[in-house]
Amino acid sequence: MIDQQTIQRIFDTADIVEVVGEFVSLKKAGQNFKGLSPFANEKTPSFMVSPSKGIFKDFSSGKGGNVVTFLMEHEKLTYPEALRFLAKKYNIEIIEEVQSPEEVERHNERESLMAVTAYASKIFKEFLHNQQEGIAVGLSYFKERGIRTETIKKFELGYSPEKRDAFTSHALQNGYKLDFLTKTGLTIQKGDYKFDRFFNRVIFPIHSLSGKIIGFGGRVLKKEEKTAKYLNSPESDIYHKSEVLYGLYFAKQAIIKAEKCYLVEGYTDVISMHQAGIENVVASSGTALTVQQIRLVKRFTSNITILFDGDAAGIKASLRGIDMVLEEGLNVKVVLLPDGEDPDSFSKSHSAEEFETFIQNNEKDFITFKTKLLLGDTKDDPVKKANAITDIVRSISVIPNGITRTVYIRESSRLLDVDEQVIFSEIAKFRGKRIQDKAKREDYEKKREEQFKPKEEPQVVIYQDDIYEREIIRILLNYGRNEFYRLKDKEKLEEKIVTVRDFIVQEIQKDELEFLNPIYNKFFAMFIENPTDIPENYYTQHPDETISRKSVELLTSNYELSKIWTKKDNFIETEDMKLKEIVPETIITLKSKRLNAMLNDAYNNLKAAMGNDDLEEIRDIQQRVVILNQVKQELSKSLGNRIVM
Ligand code: CTP
Ligand code: MN
Repeated sequence: MIDQQTIQRIFDTADIVEVVGEFVSLKKAGQNFKGLSPFANEKTPSFMVSPSKGIFKDFSSGKGGNVVTFLMEHEKLTYPEALRFLAKKYNIEIIEEVQSPEEVERHNERESLMAVTAYASKIFKEFLHNQQEGIAVGLSYFKERGIRTETIKKFELGYSPEKRDAFTSHALQNGYKLDFLTKTGLTIQKGDYKFDRFFNRVIFPIHSLSGKIIGFGGRVLKKEEKTAKYLNSPESDIYHKSEVLYGLYFAKQAIIKAEKCYLVEGYTDVISMHQAGIENVVASSGTALTVQQIRLVKRFTSNITILFDGDAAGIKASLRGIDMVLEEGLNVKVVLLPDGEDPDSFSKSHSAEEFETFIQNNEKDFITFKTKLLLGDTKDDPVKKANAITDIVRSISVIPNGITRTVYIRESSRLLDVDEQVIFSEIAKFRGKRIQDKAKREDYEKKREEQFKPKEEPQVVIYQDDIYEREIIRILLNYGRNEFYRLKDKEKLEEKIVTVRDFIVQEIQKDELEFLNPIYNKFFAMFIENPTDIPENYYTQHPDETISRKSVELLTSNYELSKIWTKKDNFIETEDMKLKEIVPETIITLKSKRLNAMLNDAYNNLKAAMGNDDLEEIRDIQQRVVILNQVKQELSKSLGNRIVM
């Protein structure tokens, strides 16, 4: 591995004109250089290099990139090879990042534990499919519960026999070290006596995000059994219960596609819903949600819908936990299943469409759900009502997005029959305290993580690309330095220049909007921190490859766009001349896109409520729509006022 500092030095030193010039004959053309495309046969030069931007763009083949990607494309080198090529050319010494012996050892230990869990899973599957006891007891149990063979195979379900050391003795015979067997919790050692944690149970392997098996859950077969219904692997170097969601590995693609994640309680809920055709579902495995689990979901979607069992008396108990989900900026909905049903039973008695329809018709916004639930209990008791109000206000106060908060404040003001201003000021109090607490907690978490956390396996995550988020970053990258308007300082008679960047940063921060796509979020953070006049090649030659790639893409896509010049009154209008229209338009669009998503939900709920003839609900939703539209109107007005200069 080449260390980051070396990569930075290579980018700082490499001269794109010089490097490309070794392969292409370049001629100066204004600030740029031009030449014949090295990627296509052509007679008129359409290949361009911009030293200030640190990029090349080939208009015949459409290829574009920075100095490193040029070498990768042209010389067919890998990323590290291209870096080494440049290091050699410019005599830069490469410092390889070495792992400390502790790091190497820890890495090796994790690999060994992972080898043990993989082996165990293989054995448990063999017990289930190929052994008489497994077939008679385990397989028939799954079949009785309506789990089909392909589902059993997909989730790699297994069986561990009645014999108390069936797995352990196999593993030892095959050379697996006792040390690793006990560290994964698969084997329990008491003096000389070694036995299996899981015996006489069906086995549910738990997969990491990349599909490796890191732990197990084992279920007893009969109801009347006296031991715990489920046993789970203990915490280990590879299995951290609080950082895992059961089923996420199988659900991630479906979550991205549906832009939504269902959260259920148990292993069998996940499996049955999958089998019914609903695959964007994960389970918290019966315990309270953790921040790490929520952040896992957030990598794939910001919409989470919690499916509660109809008879779950624990709903109220779990309400507080859901605040944490709001705090992470996710949109939370809840669905209450009919009495006596859980997702497992419901998906067996209904088709996927019926299930989805039921969810659509019964999905409630979390804050509204909570407000009604708590209010229903107060029965005009003023003390109870005051407590309920405090509780709801606290939930709203954790929502990071300002627009969303405003909408909820209005709505709850109406539902609770409390003045908006009162709620506003209560929320301000909570937020003040929260910000302090959060800073303390994050500090603590960080320290703890640094101490205990082993290096994660690299994980490839695909993000939903939001065109408006992308557009804002594209504008910042291309025109951030441009003057947007001037502010007259009355006293000093001086004019202050407000740049496009200043304006955008202020607008986004005002509503505490977050970029949902982490790459754009990273960019935005850099735009806040960096001086306005930093040259583009800071971004295109950034050592973080995702940043350099993306900025090249955003800078070159501009070339294509600016080619679409419009002729107007005999002069050519380019994109940068229209910033006064484009910038506010894009910001409004992004903000109203978020609002529209909320409106859309409201309309869907309205349809459902009308289908159910639920008059109260219909009125509530109509009011919500009114509020949302108000906020939307205010949004465009406030922005419009600002740019009238
Ligand atoms: N759980 C656990 N230990 C227990 C009971 C439950 O770890 N003693 C966890 C399991 O992850 C389980 C989840 O809590 O999947 C939900 O519990 P429950 O609803 O009782 O189990 P189900 O998954 O519904 O299992 P089944 O349908 O087989 O009863
Ligand atoms: Mn169940």
